[in-house]
Amino acid sequence: MATSLRTRPADSDGPSSPEAPLDLGARLMARQPGDRRFGAPIHAWYPVRAARVRTASRAQLHGEWIDLPATVAPAAVQTTACGGWRLINRLGLIWACPASDVAPPDLPPTPEAPLALIAYSKAPARADYDQAVLGLLDPAHVPMIHNAWWWRSQARRTKTKRYSPSPFGFTAVAADAFASTPAYDLVSEDRKVSIEFRLPSIRLERVTARGFELINLTTVTPQAEGDVVIRNLILCSVAALRFGSPLLSAWGRTFLRQDVAILERLEGRSPHLPLVFAGDPDRPSAFYFASKAALLRAQREDAAYRNPVEAESLQWVT
Ligand SMILES: [Fe+2]
Repeated sequence: MATSLRTRPADSDGPSSPEAPLDLGARLMARQPGDRRFGAPIHAWYPVRAARVRTASRAQLHGEWIDLPATVAPAAVQTTACGGWRLINRLGLIWACPASDVAPPDLPPTPEAPLALIAYSKAPARADYDQAVLGLLDPAHVPMIHNAWWWRSQARRTKTKRYSPSPFGFTAVAADAFASTPAYDLVSEDRKVSIEFRLPSIRLERVTARGFELINLTTVTPQAEGDVVIRNLILCSVAALRFGSPLLSAWGRTFLRQDVAILERLEGRSPHLPLVFAGDPDRPSAFYFASKAALLRAQREDAAYRNPVEAESLQWVT
């Protein structure tokens, strides 16, 4: 899979001229120290606010403050008044990326049918960025951290998942019956569940059945060094579930508090060590670092993104 990452030709005006001042993206890249395998990719979209908030506000990303306008029109990229940031309104969130001639990885597409926002929650954490993203990928995360009965049955079972490359990341589909989440029993038997990871930090769980679609989106925003915000939102084709939003959002906050508690316990133990991956349960983490390296290489060399993930089946007991 190869995807071009340039928005403007390399010979257009921009940081290529030695006299030109560095753009914000280049400035942020220059500030990022040492080993680029670690830390948040700079030329990438991160959510900075819920789209339903319709007042001008400020948000922090990569240690910089962004003045957000009251509204960002859906479906088109716009630039902040200062010109430093690109903004887009997608999937119920306002996303920001430094204005630059380096294109970020594409965001997930807008769902074909309109979906209602039925839950939204966010939680700040003092945590290492990569550690927070690995929490979205690690198969041990859900059974060890989120143990509500309606989300996960207590019985241990062997799970087999098929992983395949997908745009700027990879997607897992259960090869055996997806029975570990009692909440999904409410959806018909013919449901399909897939979990997509997309750079830089997007986990998108999709449940589809006849006449039904649900998107459960979790993201990590790097506000500043060692300072992240985890967001979760759920979009659903059953608009009436909107009335359950206060309850569903409260459940979401409970989950995020569990995430924050474990991340803050891990704080100081960053994965900025030689990377060692052991067996199938660590493969998604290895895919993450390989995907990030592929993105940085493509952006640095002005080349197409070459997805390093190959299809494989992984198995573990959770
Ligand atoms: Fe979690």
